Amino acid sequence: MTASYDITHHTYDVVVVGAGGSGLRATLGMAEQGLRTACVTKVFPTRSHTVAAQGGIAASLGNMGPDHWHWHMYDTVKGSDWLGDTDAMEYLAREAPKAVYELEHYGVPFSRTEEGKIYQRPFGGHTTEFGEGPPVQRTCAAADRTGHAILHTLYGQSLKQQAEFYIEYFATDLIMSEDGQCQGVLAWKLDDGTLHVFNAKMTVLATGGYGRAYFSATSAHTCTGDGGGMVARQGLPLQDMEFVQFHPTGIYGAGCLITEGARGEGGYLTNSEGERFMERYAPTYKDLASRDVVSRCMTMEIREGRGVGKDKDHILLNLNHLPPETLHERLPGISESARIFAGVDVTKEAIPVLPTVHYNMGGIPTNYWGEALNPTADNPDAIVPGLMAVGEAGCASVHGANRLGSNSLIDLVVFGRAAAIRAGEVVDPDAPNPTLNQASLDAALARFDGLRNADGHTPTADLRLEMQRAMQEDAAVFRTDKTLAEGVAKMEKIAAKVSDLKVTDRSLIWNSDLMETLELTNLMPNALATIVGAEARKESRGAHAHEDYPNRDDENWRKHTLATVDGTETTLSYRPVHLDPLSEQAEGGIDLAKIKPKARVY
Ligand code: FUM
Repeated sequence: MTASYDITHHTYDVVVVGAGGSGLRATLGMAEQGLRTACVTKVFPTRSHTVAAQGGIAASLGNMGPDHWHWHMYDTVKGSDWLGDTDAMEYLAREAPKAVYELEHYGVPFSRTEEGKIYQRPFGGHTTEFGEGPPVQRTCAAADRTGHAILHTLYGQSLKQQAEFYIEYFATDLIMSEDGQCQGVLAWKLDDGTLHVFNAKMTVLATGGYGRAYFSATSAHTCTGDGGGMVARQGLPLQDMEFVQFHPTGIYGAGCLITEGARGEGGYLTNSEGERFMERYAPTYKDLASRDVVSRCMTMEIREGRGVGKDKDHILLNLNHLPPETLHERLPGISESARIFAGVDVTKEAIPVLPTVHYNMGGIPTNYWGEALNPTADNPDAIVPGLMAVGEAGCASVHGANRLGSNSLIDLVVFGRAAAIRAGEVVDPDAPNPTLNQASLDAALARFDGLRNADGHTPTADLRLEMQRAMQEDAAVFRTDKTLAEGVAKMEKIAAKVSDLKVTDRSLIWNSDLMETLELTNLMPNALATIVGAEARKESRGAHAHEDYPNRDDENWRKHTLATVDGTETTLSYRPVHLDPLSEQAEGGIDLAKIKPKARVY
């Protein structure tokens, strides 16, 4: 098999797969320390999905009023519905201001206050005084194009540090040693059809989420869970995959994101009666409640017949009361999206919106340094040598069962940076690279070749659509025993059809048929882990709203789900949540009594 493909070999200290916010921040940090770093990416770096992040990046800078990292940590713990790992959540909140000031110094063009400080806006679930005070303005913004600004800056800085980019290379599989150490990746160069092995002492998966397992998502079409797919094929687990976030304001029909920043700037939701219904459900924080809560309330309004439109199947987001200067200065991007995708002039009309799949809380389990985990009964924190995962591909677990808006961009840079710091400690630039395991490379090549020549009866696009519809229908905002059991049965049948795929284009250059097939084989284990994990979790927590078990059950279910997926078979196990913080209260750490589990109301 190997003989039929010529392979170009590359040797680096570190290979980062993916060039979104976390991949670029990791790449930059690695290169700054003098590690020979390659970044392999299937799209041009500044076209990575982070470019679509609109509203901003959370950090307790306190530029617009009092704030403290303890409050940010508390909000993150509560937002996670007490499933997040306490050490990771502390690390995020404590390091966030430093990470944002670094971005500022690298050149991110943040919006400014009158005095020239970084502008910050309110976002859902971000509060003061441990949830007892008013909403806080914590989300640092570059108008409503914050991700775009961050990506361009980090890419430029990475080039300055001599990081080497392999653009439009699709990483197909990990290469692992016999004893489970990651040795790098096999990648396919899309524009000339050549195959490449990147042998590295450390491989960092920064491949983003798998939103495209669903029919309607704010995620780019490139969000196909490639890292999760690669990890699953090595028999390694995925964590907490049942927690899928629906963003309250995807444009009805098109699915494009309208930032939560729109509500942060004063926008509000109404039903068919013109009622600001969030006042009923979340009397204190109203439209700025956590986004899982807002998405559920919108769904309930629609179910109860108070949706708008001829089919009464969506909700309205009102911005037309805001001064046109605010819309122009703070929300120019979504004003344009609303015009293009909904035909709406936001200065005059409301935008039709619907909860839309937006983010995957689950992913490849890691510690807060980004090191990938392969938990065992004896050691739930056992690491996979040579492998890291950061950003939406990873699960640190800092978002637990539900992520707060604007905690994603900060996750990308805090944990991208942490991975680089850790790699600086564990990667020896003078040590030889691992000797490549030929059997692992052969297996990767055989899989590639098998899919390239797949000659079954099921076109990739048809199977993808089946999967997307099943996930949309059965792993939705609200779930029941019945829908989940049906979903599992459907998804197992759908996954079985992977062996019957038909690829019609056998070429190697710009073969989108093969590319989409490889992506589908990545989406599939992510989707299976999601629905099987959801079916097993008999409680409601964060984004997992189970109508047959409407309450959170900390006694039985405050634990992380681990799912290993082999073909159509998914095996579940569990690992404990980290309850200990990084620092003692006496050292300035948070008062643990403040973050004890309680009812989650806004
Ligand atoms: O609404 C938004 O701008 C999205 C932000 C996020 O997901 O963090």
